[in-house]
Amino acid sequence: MSLFVVFEGGEGCGKSTQARVLWRRLLEQNMPVILTHEPGGTVLGNKVGRALKGKGESPISPEAELFLFAASRAQLVTEVIQPALQEGRIVICDRFSYSTLAYQGYGRGLNLPTIEMLNGLAAQDIEPNIVIFLDLLPEQGLARKPGLQDRFELEALSFHRRVREGYLKLSASDPDRWLVVDATLPEKKISEIIWGKVSQLVPSPCHRKGEPKH
Ligand code: TMP
Repeated sequence: MSLFVVFEGGEGCGKSTQARVLWRRLLEQNMPVILTHEPGGTVLGNKVGRALKGKGESPISPEAELFLFAASRAQLVTEVIQPALQEGRIVICDRFSYSTLAYQGYGRGLNLPTIEMLNGLAAQDIEPNIVIFLDLLPEQGLARKPGLQDRFELEALSFHRRVREGYLKLSASDPDRWLVVDATLPEKKISEIIWGKVSQLVPSPCHRKGEPKH
């Protein structure tokens, strides 16, 4: 049984940490699970990700940014996500199409239906079973990431506020798919909330090596 779990959220919300915690927990239960992330997860995606996040000398236009994220996603879906789901694995992806709607759509102001169309093309219309959104005020998230900042972290607070508003709208429009978690809660509490939801969607623990099958 395949399952596609996506983590979303603004800067510093802790989604990468939580994605790893969930991945380890599923691995411990002998579940066939992979963890990947956007932008990246493939050789091409990693190159694109570096170009997008780096504080390059020449600015990237919002449209070019949109196409680059879509290119990274298209490669990741073809190379990693689609084959893993076809093999019946659980796929955990740190960011997916919703990041493009939130950042390039709500954040940069690009046309949402156009982004949805591109997202569908890049993702081959694959949609996650569950989207885990770690919600946090942007000022709190950015404060968790001092020091070297990437191109997105350096954006104005107003940009990050629009991104959060976007996520809130997206989650409200599809409450059956989205799990909204207060990212100010302690890390352990957050992982328990996530496990409470995801464990309902995965089959009962696979039998461990040496244990009898029931
Ligand atoms: P992260 O690896 O820290 O999550 O950084 C990825 C950055 O790229 C983050 O600031 C969000 C941004 N992003 C977009 O703007 N659009 C997208 O579609 C994706 C996947 C990420």
